[in-house]
Amino acid sequence: MFMASRIQTRAFSASARNLSKVTVLGAAGGIGQPLSLLLKLNPRVTELALYDIRGAPGVAADVSHVNTKSTVKGYDATPSGLASALKGAEVVLIPAGVPRKPGMTRDDLFNTNASIVRDLSKACAENAPDANILIISNPVNSTVPICAEVFKSKGVYNPKRLFGVTTLDVVRASRFVAEVKSTDPKDENITVVGGHSGVTIVPLFSQSNHPDLSSNDALINRVQFGGDEVVKAKDGAGSATLSMAMAGARMAESVLRAAQGEKGVVEPTFVDSPLYKDQGIEFFSSKVELGPNGVEKVLPVGKVDAVEEKLLEACFADLKKNIEKGQKFVAENP
Ligand code: NAD
Ligand code: LMR
Repeated sequence: MFMASRIQTRAFSASARNLSKVTVLGAAGGIGQPLSLLLKLNPRVTELALYDIRGAPGVAADVSHVNTKSTVKGYDATPSGLASALKGAEVVLIPAGVPRKPGMTRDDLFNTNASIVRDLSKACAENAPDANILIISNPVNSTVPICAEVFKSKGVYNPKRLFGVTTLDVVRASRFVAEVKSTDPKDENITVVGGHSGVTIVPLFSQSNHPDLSSNDALINRVQFGGDEVVKAKDGAGSATLSMAMAGARMAESVLRAAQGEKGVVEPTFVDSPLYKDQGIEFFSSKVELGPNGVEKVLPVGKVDAVEEKLLEACFADLKKNIEKGQKFVAENP
């Protein structure tokens, strides 16, 4: 009885309260397509808007046949198509841009993706200034600062509404730990902080169920360079798309749950962060409590051991450069 009424309350709150338009920019890509499918399956999403420079109407027609309640629309690759896709959005996910090939770092994508994210950010600032913007396009350590600078230049920057999606790092960490320890990944909640590339990705195993893992160099390396495993295996055909779609859909779901009033929703994400501002690090990924206004509270990193202290030092050096590179790009190429 109790259970039934709880389910009913949930069903009510997931249908009556939520008029949530979610927009995907880059919807026809390797991430964009499965991400759009997962969003179509999410009852919290009432309207799905798909935009890409090619192919969004086709993806939308396909996804729209999935028999869930939400409406789906694909928009033309025109400025007015982009504007319409964005108007009224509560959440905008941006997986637009080129992926890595073997031998490349995420920073090698900067030259192409910086201007893509800058231009899409301009459109977001003009058409959806109050939306929660979730940036997937790499290099995340630089594309998030790029988006922030664009919003600042338009006078609409709200640091509580901008998120770099680093969910895949914790998804991977929990999966890799479960493989080592023969456990169920759902029981492995691994905190990962820093940024989203190489040594800027810092898993904090000392805070997990298995503190001994903080001296497991191979595992630390696997979390930091998990993306490379996929890039290598895909052999020139791109990087993680399916696991990323799952991670992006999870992050969007968490933002929506918090927007719809659920308390205690915590996700790791790369945000404008007070944690290391005194050391010149303006953006940092840590656990963040989400709320109706986006970022509710940036949670502290907590106690780390000596090994993790060293990892954090290495992270700071790279992360600072990546952030400044994004900021400089917008200053020089407004
Ligand atoms: P993809 O090439 O398969 O798809 C990218 C899509 O973006 C394409 O459909 C393309 O047409 C579209 N696009 C390009 N310019 C655009 C623009 N100006 N406006 C709208 N759409 C545009 O690539 P992918 O595998 O989907 O990866 C996309 C990005 O996500 C890459 O930069 C990749 O590095 C990044 N990524 C991030 C994470 C993460 O954890 N944050 C994980 C995996 C991939
Ligand atoms: C990942 O972590 O899988 C993504 O950032 C894509 C990449 O380039 O590795």
